Amino acid sequence: MADSTIWAVEPSGPLHGEVVVGGSKNAVTKLMAAALLADSPSWVTNAPAIGDVDITAAMLGSLGVGVAVEGGTVSLDPRSLTDSRVPVGYSGLNRIPILLLGPLLHALGEATVPLAGGDLIGSRPLDFHLQALRTLGAEVELTATGITAKTTGLRGARIRLPFPSVGATETVLLSAARAEGRTVLENAAIEPEVVELALFLQRLGVGIELRTDRRFVIEGKPRLSGARQRLGGDRIEAFSYLVAALATGGSVKVVGCAHDRLVTAVATLQRMGATFEIGDDDILVRADDGLRPIAVATSPHPGFMTDWQSPLVVLFTQTDGLSVMHETVFEDRLGYVGALQEMGARIQLFDQCLVGEACRFHEGSYLHSVVVQGRSALSGADLKMPDIRAGFAYLLAAATASGPSRITGVHQLERGYDRVLEKFQSLGLDVRPIT
Ligand code: UD1
Repeated sequence: MADSTIWAVEPSGPLHGEVVVGGSKNAVTKLMAAALLADSPSWVTNAPAIGDVDITAAMLGSLGVGVAVEGGTVSLDPRSLTDSRVPVGYSGLNRIPILLLGPLLHALGEATVPLAGGDLIGSRPLDFHLQALRTLGAEVELTATGITAKTTGLRGARIRLPFPSVGATETVLLSAARAEGRTVLENAAIEPEVVELALFLQRLGVGIELRTDRRFVIEGKPRLSGARQRLGGDRIEAFSYLVAALATGGSVKVVGCAHDRLVTAVATLQRMGATFEIGDDDILVRADDGLRPIAVATSPHPGFMTDWQSPLVVLFTQTDGLSVMHETVFEDRLGYVGALQEMGARIQLFDQCLVGEACRFHEGSYLHSVVVQGRSALSGADLKMPDIRAGFAYLLAAATASGPSRITGVHQLERGYDRVLEKFQSLGLDVRPIT
C-alpha cells in the first residue's frame, strides 16, 4: 500500500473474536534465501501476505531466480540464478541482502549486496556477519554503499558469536551449508525461526545438528536439492493479538501458532492475571478479574522476545499500577514511547538496567528501560508509524484511546503483519483507510 494511505481509527471498545495468524515473518524470507543453495526448485508454504515477502521475491527475481508468490506458496527456482549483484535499489528495505552473501558465494564465487535495512531500533551493526564470513574463507569488503565478497571456496570453521544474534546465526548456517567440511557455531541464536531455517537446510541435504548450549554443528554438502516446507505460525503476530484483546478488555482466540512458540508469552501474561484456554492449534485469552503490573526484561530465546516488547508496554498503560520493561536486545527500541506519552501515557525512560541483570548497554547512555504508571486514559492522536513493532503499538494505543486517531506510514506495519487491517476489523475495531 502506498505511503500516502491514512488509517482512521475509531476506538470501538473491547475486541472480540478469532484471528488466524500467518506463517512466520522472521522465517519466510530466510527460507527464500536458503532456496538459492539448491540445484532444483523449492516451495515455502503457509507464507504470510506481507510486504517483506514481496520485497524479497523481487530482490531474488533481480538475480535471475524464478520466483512466484501465489496463495500462500512461494516457489523458487534457483537454476536460473545468474547475477551475483543485488541492485542498490534494495538498500535499506529489509535485512535479507546480508543473508544472500553465503548463498551467492556458493553459487557464483562472488557477491555484492547493498547495506541492510529493517527497523530503526539501534545501530544494528554487521560485524558478526562479516567476521564469520571471513573465518569461513571469504574476502569481504565493506564499501560506502554495500558489501562485496569473493571466495575460491568456503571452508568449515569454528565460530563463536559475541552475542546470540539471529541474523549472524543465519549467515553462518547459510554459508556453512555448502562449505567444505564441518562448521561449529557457538553461542548461536536458537529462536524458533532460526530452527525453522536449520530444518529447511536439513531437508535440502545439509548435515545439521543443534546441540545443547546454543551450538550448531554443520556438515557442509557440495550439492543440495530443493525441498518443500510449511512455515510455523508467527509468534509475534499471535502475541500482538493476545495483547490487543487484553488492552481493550476483550477476549481473542488466536489460531495457527503452536503453543510451544508462546510458552514465555503465555507465562508473562499469566503473571499479569490473564487466563488462557489452550488447544493444539489455538489459544484464547481473557482477563475477567483484571490485570496487575509486572516487571519484564527482553532477552534472546527462550526469554521474553524483544518484538513482543512494544505491545506489552501499551498493555502496561492500561494496567493499574507500576510496570517495568528492560529492553536488552536492541539499545534503541523504545523510541515509540514518545507518541504514547503525547497520547497521555505516563511513562518514564531510564538509561539504567531496571529489571534482571545488567545488559550490554548498562554503561551507555541509551534509554532502554521504562517505568509505566497505569492506567492512563489515552487520547486519540495523529501518528506516523516508524517501524513494524512500533506501528503495531500505535494501532493498539489508538484502539484503546478515548477518541479517533489518524495513522500514516502503515506500509511499515504491512511489511510484517499479514492482512492486519482485515484482522482488526474482524475483531470489531473501526479502522478504515481514507484518502
Ligand atoms: C532478528 C529479527 C528481529 C528480532 C531480532 C532479535 C528478522 C528479520 N528480524 O533481527 O525481528 O527483533 O532478530 O530477536 O528476523 N548485533 C551486532 N552485530 C552483528 C549482528 C547483531 O552487534 O553483526 C547485535 C544487534 O545490534 C542487536 C543484537 O545483536 O543488539 C541482536 O540482533 P540480531 O539478533 O542479529 O537481530 P536481527 O537478526 O537483525
